[in-house]
Amino acid sequence: MIGVFDSGYGGLTILKEMKRCLPQYDYLYLGDNARAPYGTRSFDVVYDFTLQAVKALFNLGCPLVILACNTASAKALRSIQQNDLPLLDPSKRVLGVIRPTIEILPEYSRSGHIGLIATPGTVNSHSYRMELEKMHPQMCIIEHSCPMFVPLVENNEANGPGADYFVKKYIDRIMERDPEIDTLVLGCTHYPLLIDKIKMYLPPHVKILPQGGIVAESLADYLVRHPEMESRCSKNATTEFLTTESPEKFDTLASIFLGEKVISKKIILPC
Ligand code: DGL
Repeated sequence: MIGVFDSGYGGLTILKEMKRCLPQYDYLYLGDNARAPYGTRSFDVVYDFTLQAVKALFNLGCPLVILACNTASAKALRSIQQNDLPLLDPSKRVLGVIRPTIEILPEYSRSGHIGLIATPGTVNSHSYRMELEKMHPQMCIIEHSCPMFVPLVENNEANGPGADYFVKKYIDRIMERDPEIDTLVLGCTHYPLLIDKIKMYLPPHVKILPQGGIVAESLADYLVRHPEMESRCSKNATTEFLTTESPEKFDTLASIFLGEKVISKKIILPC
């Protein structure tokens, strides 16, 4: 199975696109809902929680794990790839969502001015800015944190009036910081669940970039370039779900977000 990890429901927006683009594979989704949100947690805590999840997915038979979470990709991916993977199992792989997103930016932006909305953890890590400087030094990025977005989504308030207040506030602020922004990256996998409201408050010429399709296409490309990994990924078109919270609670919201019936099992992550 291909493991897909997020702090909660947000990774379902990535999984949905992976299933659409690569329906033949088996997926195992793990949401650490009991400890979400990660976005306001410290570097060490996000790293510890993410490593626990990766180990669990490896133990359950995943040769490849996608961190479908920007906060985990920003704060834990590099350490896991460089320090933990060689000790855990050098034949397995962990991939994130930030690099594929940065790679594709020149296809979208004409002004070269990118806006990023993300969790405080992702913004404070400056992972997007550092990757952009490496890959596309001619472009610039304004990183803006939206600490209220994940709690709104995790509490099923994405369509409520509270969401309007915070979406308008954060969008107005980032556009004031750089009116030349012509591409807005939704740098948190929870944010596509707020996309209708984001569209309402964003100037119409600004393109919105959710990550699901980008990450799915990048995974497809990775599997073509790595046939040794591709052959280890089973292909029965199944999806299983694990959550650290109550499965009943997870299933209700996850079914809405994914647009299909979800039946999850509870997992306790070993420390
Ligand atoms: N969905 C995650 C992300 O992409 C994490 C959100 C959170 O737990 O704060 O950053």
